[in-house]
This record gives sequence, C-alpha cells and structure tokens, in this order.
Amino acid sequence: MTLDLTGKTALVTGASRGIGRAVAEQLAASGARVALHHSGRSPEAAREQADALGGIAIAADLRDPRAAQGLWREAMEAMGRVDIVIANAGVFVEASPEADLDEWLEAWDTVLAVNLTSLAVLAKEAVAHWAERHAASGAEEIVGRLVTVSSRAAFRGDDPAFLSYAASKGGVVSLTKSIARGWGRRGVVAIGVAPGFVRTDMAAGSIEQDAAALDAQTSIGRIAEPEEVAPTVVFLASGLADHATGTTVDVNGASFVR
Ligand SMILES: NC(=O)c1ccc[n+]([C@@H]2O[C@H](COP(=O)([O-])OP(=O)(O)OC[C@H]3O[C@@H](n4cnc5c(N)ncnc54)[C@H](OP(=O)(O)O)[C@@H]3O)[C@@H](O)[C@H]2O)c1
Repeated sequence: MTLDLTGKTALVTGASRGIGRAVAEQLAASGARVALHHSGRSPEAAREQADALGGIAIAADLRDPRAAQGLWREAMEAMGRVDIVIANAGVFVEASPEADLDEWLEAWDTVLAVNLTSLAVLAKEAVAHWAERHAASGAEEIVGRLVTVSSRAAFRGDDPAFLSYAASKGGVVSLTKSIARGWGRRGVVAIGVAPGFVRTDMAAGSIEQDAAALDAQTSIGRIAEPEEVAPTVVFLASGLADHATGTTVDVNGASFVR
C-alpha cells in the first residue's frame, strides 16, 4: 500500500494551527499541493507557513458563511483544480445556559456559522465542481474527496455551556453522510473524523483546568497530539478508503466508544 498524493491539490481550512496545520504538513509531505486557509488574524505567519510547504495561504473569516464561497473561488483560481477538501476550521465558544439571550445567541450564531454553515457552503461549492468534472470525464472514477472534522461531542454531547458546539458537530456528521449518499454517483466521497481531546489552542483551557482528568478519559492514558490525528485524515483523503464514504471515524483514544 502506498499513500502518494503527487499531482493532487488540497484545500485545508483552519490550517494555521492545531489539527489543520498538522494535516496540511502531512498532505504536503505526501506530495499534494496545498492551499492553507486561515482566518486572516495572522496573515504574515500564514504566508510563511504556506511558503514552507510550497503551497498558498488564503484568508477567509468564516463567521461570515459567504466568505466560504470566496475561499473556494480563490483556491480554484490559484490552483486550477481542487481534488481534496479538508473541512477542519472550527471554534469552541462558551455560553452559559443562564446567560442573557442576546449573549447566548451571539455565541450560538458564531459557532454555527464557523463550524457548520461555512463548512456547508464550502462543501456545496466543492461537490458542484466535482460533479461537473465527473460528468465531463465520462468515467466512473472518484474525482473529489471531502473529509470533515467534527468531534466526539457530535455523538456523546457536550457540557451545558457548549450546546452550540455539540449541535454544530452533529450537523457536520449528518451533512457528511448526506453528501456521501447524494453525490457518490457523481464522483464524490465524503468521510468524517471525530477527534476527542487534542492538544491544541482550542483545548488549552480544558487542559489547563485538569490535564490529568482529560488524559484519564482515554484508554491509552493521554490525549492526542495534532500530529496523531492528521494521519487518519490524510489516509481518508487519499483514495485508499473510498468505501468508507459516509462514515465518521472516531479518533478519541476510546474516551467514548459508540
Ligand atoms: N482540539 C480538540 O480537542 C478538538 C476535539 C474535537 C474536535 N476538534 C475539531 O478539530 C478542528 C480543529 O481544531 P483545533 O483544535 O486544531 O483548533 P485550533 O488550534 O483552535 O485552530 C482552529 C483553526 O480554525 C481557524 N479558525 C478559527 N476561527 C475562524 C474563523 N472565524 N474563520 C476562519 N477560520 C477560523 C483558526 O484560524 P486562525 O489561526 O487564523 O485563527 C485555526 O486555523 C475543529 O473543527 C475542532 O472543532 C478539536
């Protein structure tokens, strides 16, 4: 078995840090040309990171789902073709159920916009492109692969202050299934990855509160590093796992087995 992505182009959202960064690095190391998306908060660092991987950096603030369409168009313009989309960008925003409604809704809207609606817009653009390529080729082969990054929270649920996060990730899982079922005959594979706790900025607050408790949730005694989640993502995007389309793979150290 050889995992070789030479000649493939990939767009990774949220590639500036954490899991997305590790995925972009491993895709590039496997031969793919990569467009690294970031929010626009640190454009200089994103450019340097993309240069180091021989790729390109694209900024889009996904709190506005329309920016996801711009992101897709920019990636297409820069690379001419996108074979793989890793929909990974996400936020985790706390909102107490006792919070004032405006404050609660602000957190809800932000999380749903970044984690779900923008992902859906990007997926919608990608599958249209892949279906068109598939029809033009006249062949039966898979032309596009979408890997979504959801969370253990999609299946287990989350704490009361993170209802929006769990709901957004549940949406990502069902959207992934729907794309797999709806576009399989149009050259598209869609597979998800649902991590448990991973040592990134997103999890920093929880790790700071009680790292030992998070480690103890896993059967192997420690939470994952981003570099330990990325290989599953790259494998699922590689074409070696196309018959897994529609599923979401847990990468949570058996902290939640379903
Ligand atoms: N870490 C965990 O424990 C864990 C567990 C389960 C699932 N996940 C999921 O894994 C994915 C990656 O998480 P991570 O832990 O690697 O997070 P992270 O280290 O906090 O990185 C988040 C990424 O998303 C981007 N992003 C954040 N807000 C954005 C916005 N408004 N517009 C565009 N991009 C935005 C960030 O870009 P900037 O750098 O430009 O801000 C960054 O690249 C997320 O979907 C997360 O829900 C993480």
